[in-house]
Amino acid sequence: MTNTCGKKEDFPIFKKKVNGKDIVYLDSTATTQKPKQVLDAIISYYEGANANVHRSVYKLADEATELYENSRTNVSDFIGSKSNEVVFTRNTTESLNLLSFTIGESLKKGDHILITSMEHHSNILPWMRLEEKGVKLDYVGFDEKGHLDIGDLKSKLKKETKIVSITHQSNVLGTINPIEEIGKMAKENDSIFIIDAAQSVPHMPFRMREQYDFVAFSGHKMLGPMGIGVLYGKYHLLEEMSPFNRGGEMIRNVDFHSVIFEDPPIKFEAGTPNVEGAVGLSAAIDYLKTIGMENVRSHEKNLTSVTLRSLEDLKNVTYYGPTDVEERGGVIAFNVRDVSNLKKNLEGRNVIVDHLYHSHDIATFLDDKNVYVRSGHHCAEPLMRTLGVSGTARASFYVYNGIDDVQAFVNSLSELNDVQ
Ligand code: ALA
Repeated sequence: MTNTCGKKEDFPIFKKKVNGKDIVYLDSTATTQKPKQVLDAIISYYEGANANVHRSVYKLADEATELYENSRTNVSDFIGSKSNEVVFTRNTTESLNLLSFTIGESLKKGDHILITSMEHHSNILPWMRLEEKGVKLDYVGFDEKGHLDIGDLKSKLKKETKIVSITHQSNVLGTINPIEEIGKMAKENDSIFIIDAAQSVPHMPFRMREQYDFVAFSGHKMLGPMGIGVLYGKYHLLEEMSPFNRGGEMIRNVDFHSVIFEDPPIKFEAGTPNVEGAVGLSAAIDYLKTIGMENVRSHEKNLTSVTLRSLEDLKNVTYYGPTDVEERGGVIAFNVRDVSNLKKNLEGRNVIVDHLYHSHDIATFLDDKNVYVRSGHHCAEPLMRTLGVSGTARASFYVYNGIDDVQAFVNSLSELNDVQ
């Protein structure tokens, strides 16, 4: 199992050498590298079809519009929705903010929103904003292995709960939440059910279900360019919602004091959209489809399994989240206990200081060996508080990583683990 899942040579960045050596990129949860196929599609769009979309009647504009709309269809096929239910946004964060500023605005004092304590800030802060008008934000907890507490969720679902918004896969714990089941519970409670799928759509087969009202994800986390994201929404809900931004292109008719908006999804795409982003995202989806999402998932399960078993042998390393790869994705947050410190206390006596290395120190240590991991709170500070740590280091995998990357990571980390 030394092979990667996508071909490493498809990714020009891996030609790069730092200090004469290959780089080991283990930060795909933050953003993914881009294959040549995606870069070529963007260049070929600019070289052969660039014009503004949905506005003009000349042939080049038609071509650009067709590319843009084909991308929408490709996205919808990929997730199993209808094309007019796919709204292009900048990223997951903007998709969730769009919801907060539209359906969120219709909430009243006393209404509840239920999220979880393993959310990324993107699925907390847009909802926290509504607390200012008396909406209550509540959090479902998780157990010591990083499993969502479904009993807690049941007990917190009330008639006042208007929105349930949860991450499909945690960007820290890696936990894959049972969204089909949670979605059913939310719908039985008449709540709007929203999924932050930023870490799931790129990494596993994802099919739309009746109980999903809205699903948000980002292009750059799935081999596409930055600045293009998706909000899936059930068509009748999109129809009922007011637009988030107003301006060019999203109208059917404007008079001095009145406006008739376009139908969804165009109603939510004011101004010149990110056509280059849509074209790149479509090429990224084609690339992933060629590999097959089942293969992406199984490749990441293998890499994760090998890594977790190796980390379990390192006595000073703690990782977070489920131990079983069936329940988690290829993102591994961890800390290393520093047992090296013999220090003098104020009285000048030798004392052993036993604490965790700062996560940035771990990442810097690994960086010295060209192993790139993220460190810090991962935009999930409430989760860090629940774990009782200020931060963690985090390694994450994607299609271009192979077992050689895992070995480089584990070998480098063992050196830190062994420091006495
Ligand atoms: N959400 C991204 C991460 O977890 C940026 O790193």
